[in-house]
Amino acid sequence: MKSISLIALCCVMVVFGGLPFTSNAQLDPLFYVKTCPQLHTIVQDIIRNVTRQDPRMPASLIRLHFHDCFVQGCDASVLLNNTATIESEQEAAPNINSLRGFNVVNRIKLAVDNACPNLVSCADILTLAAEKSSVMTGGPSWPVPLGRRDSLTANRALANKSLPAPFFSLTQLKSAFAAQGLNTVDLVTLSGAHTFGKARCRFITDRLYNFNNTGQPDPTLNTAYLQQLQIQCPQNGSGDVRVAFDPITPGRLDKQFYNNLQVKKGLLQSDQELFSTPDADTISLVNTLHEINY
Ligand code: HEM
Repeated sequence: MKSISLIALCCVMVVFGGLPFTSNAQLDPLFYVKTCPQLHTIVQDIIRNVTRQDPRMPASLIRLHFHDCFVQGCDASVLLNNTATIESEQEAAPNINSLRGFNVVNRIKLAVDNACPNLVSCADILTLAAEKSSVMTGGPSWPVPLGRRDSLTANRALANKSLPAPFFSLTQLKSAFAAQGLNTVDLVTLSGAHTFGKARCRFITDRLYNFNNTGQPDPTLNTAYLQQLQIQCPQNGSGDVRVAFDPITPGRLDKQFYNNLQVKKGLLQSDQELFSTPDADTISLVNTLHEINY
């Protein structure tokens, strides 16, 4: 049990630390310890203040980091706006009208630059913001390797290609993660982030009313949960209404996600695939991750 808990935590660190995406030769949690000792406090204080007004922000920041890392590594490419030579990743299909937190990262960058001019990269700020967001909402902490350089380019086509979709099968999910050097344990561990934050009705309408063109709901959806979701997302209602990933503890980064899957209450098809795909190796991982302590 202890080793799986360590493995799980390491997996979180691997993605949040960005290790498989770029060379980690020069990355070091103490990278700014002498040059910008206030860094951690500045990041933490700003996120804490913003979260008072906007409790969903820690979830949004963690997702922003994930969407950065899956496209050319954790290099802040997702933060680049359109220019004459840059097609911003923000307009890629998985990101448009969806990613949040850009202003918070800007606020942190301004405050950090004020304290330690032109020193700390936006990629490091986003990576640290993800870890602080985790701790602030009851999730794990980890030493964040630092010293990344910011990308000067973005890649919208790669964002469209690399980011997984909510209707993906388990095979497709595994291959999207494998393309980033991430294994099945990483997939199940990191999907655990769907224990807080929100998703739009448009991503679950098929599951609620016409799964795979059967005219029926997704059979892997708990019937009581199905009814609750149908109330929140009526058949001809707006696809832009948002529902909580975890109705039990919607603002906590806890292990409830795994429990939800066990009782067929995964919100996205891609979530429930981890537990409801017959004979999948991910079923035992869901059961184990539900039990671990971090
Ligand atoms: C495994 C494949 C994944 C798929 C298919 C997926 C898909 C999605 C979708 C469709 C949404 C809702 C977007 C919207 O309504 O605009 C969402 C939200 C979210 N995702 Fe994922 N995601 C995946 C993995 C991850 C990972 C690895 C993380 C972080 C480690 C993550 C963190 C989040 C969070 C926290 C939210 C809520 C954000 C908010 O409330 O602003 N997701 N995801």
